[in-house]
Amino acid sequence: PYVVTDGCIKCKYTDCVEVCPVDCFYEGENMLVIHPDECIDCGVCEPECPAEAIVPDTDDRATKWLELNRDYSGQWPNITRKKDAPADADEFKGVDGKFEKFFS
Ligand code: SF4
Ligand code: F3S
Repeated sequence: PYVVTDGCIKCKYTDCVEVCPVDCFYEGENMLVIHPDECIDCGVCEPECPAEAIVPDTDDRATKWLELNRDYSGQWPNITRKKDAPADADEFKGVDGKFEKFFS
């Protein structure tokens, strides 16, 4: 499956949601995650994310995120429609250390 990584935190552009054919994104306060058992590995969401937050689970950056995507996709509500990004989303794009400060 593909996984959402820390680049999404506080950005939440939701362009990914719009293209997913199986609606497997789930929404937390500050980021989205993908349900790894529902993702069909189509890859169409990866280039859509302006924050480059989505990677395949074979990517080095995915290691710590796969379990987190699994855990939180079982707790957070499903999101199937794009919505407005936070007003300050661009200020957090590409910023390091977002997980430690803002994960939720
Ligand atoms: Fe959805 Fe495809 Fe992205 Fe998986 S890879 S989350 S199925 S768009
Ligand atoms: Fe997050 Fe990128 Fe989707 S910032 S909400 S993974 S488009």
